[in-house]
Amino acid sequence: MNVLLTGGLGYIGSHTAAALVAAGHTPILLDNLANADLGVHDRLAVVGGVELPFVCADVRDTDTVARTLIEHRVEAVVHFAGLKAVAESVHMPLAYFDANVGGTLSLLRAMDSAGVRQLVFSSSAAVYGTPRYLPVDEAHPTEAITPYSRTKLHIEEILADLAAAGEWRMVVLRYFNPVGAHPSGLLGERPQGTPNNLMPFVAQVAAGEHPCVEIFGDDYDTPDGTGIRDYIHVMDLAEGHLAALQRLFAAAPALETFNLGTGRGYSVREMIAAFAAASGQDIPSRVAPRRGRDVASCYADPSRAAAVLGWRAKRGLAEMCESAWRFQTRKP
Ligand SMILES: NC(=O)c1ccc[n+]([C@@H]2O[C@H](COP(=O)([O-])OP(=O)(O)OC[C@H]3O[C@@H](n4cnc5c(N)ncnc54)[C@H](O)[C@@H]3O)[C@@H](O)[C@H]2O)c1
Repeated sequence: MNVLLTGGLGYIGSHTAAALVAAGHTPILLDNLANADLGVHDRLAVVGGVELPFVCADVRDTDTVARTLIEHRVEAVVHFAGLKAVAESVHMPLAYFDANVGGTLSLLRAMDSAGVRQLVFSSSAAVYGTPRYLPVDEAHPTEAITPYSRTKLHIEEILADLAAAGEWRMVVLRYFNPVGAHPSGLLGERPQGTPNNLMPFVAQVAAGEHPCVEIFGDDYDTPDGTGIRDYIHVMDLAEGHLAALQRLFAAAPALETFNLGTGRGYSVREMIAAFAAASGQDIPSRVAPRRGRDVASCYADPSRAAAVLGWRAKRGLAEMCESAWRFQTRKP
């Protein structure tokens, strides 16, 4: 299958590209390098043994995207490209609506004109807002508590309208908390500046780049008082995209939505302890005030993806930490 990956040089896109190559497919990568560098393209060639087609473009450049779809005989698109820093979205809502909602509209127009109407979309567990029950299943009410999650919800609504109009086949994947790295240590998450997410920050503390991990709140209603999240290995997530792509070509409804998580939550303290064990490093921490929009606990009910896609996460917390540490120390 020829599959266009928008944002294909990013964290999840690059791992999905590696998984697609390993399964015998041809990913075509499109990225504007807003949060990626060309070195990822070189390292993907080492990992997969093949140089992948790469188009340096913005998804909002409708003509270039349409041309790419036709030139590469693309059969389906996985749409990762967008902005993802939740806190930043509060200060820059217009940039988020432009890149995420505007970018998706441009992509959909390009796909429509090229006659490619199979799409897998990167959504987020952020669309559930504050969980009203746990584990969170796909029927859980949605709620936008930040501009970032509102962009994801708006896009999901646009896709639902498109599905109702006919011709399109789409799968929405709501990711929980992707962490870890490719087993080679050549691909991983490399945030620009100070990481917003816990695991890359913990990895940098383990490497001595920051003095300690700040735990934002230890008075939540959880067993050790720190926030609980459903961390999912990025290679498991990547394989979830393969299952979703296969689903697009089965006799399935026009639009389906799946949680991609493990179903198991770990607290901040458990994550730090697991990373210390995997890296063999001391990881000092200190408690800081809660951050405004954090929820106490959030983890997935992934049973729908297991039943319908035949996909479930296989890798545990130790493997997530070990692979992230390998990437951190290898510094490709
Ligand atoms: N990483 C997470 O924790 C997480 C969780 C839930 C959902 N998601 C979603 O998954 C997707 C991928 O996330 P990621 O972690 O790989 O992020 P990332 O920033 O590593 O990757 C996104 C890629 O898209 C590119 N990009 C951004 N805007 C673009 C544009 N307008 N045109 C072309 N390319 C553009 C960036 O350069 C980057 O390479 C995003 O849509 C994100 O919202 C991520």
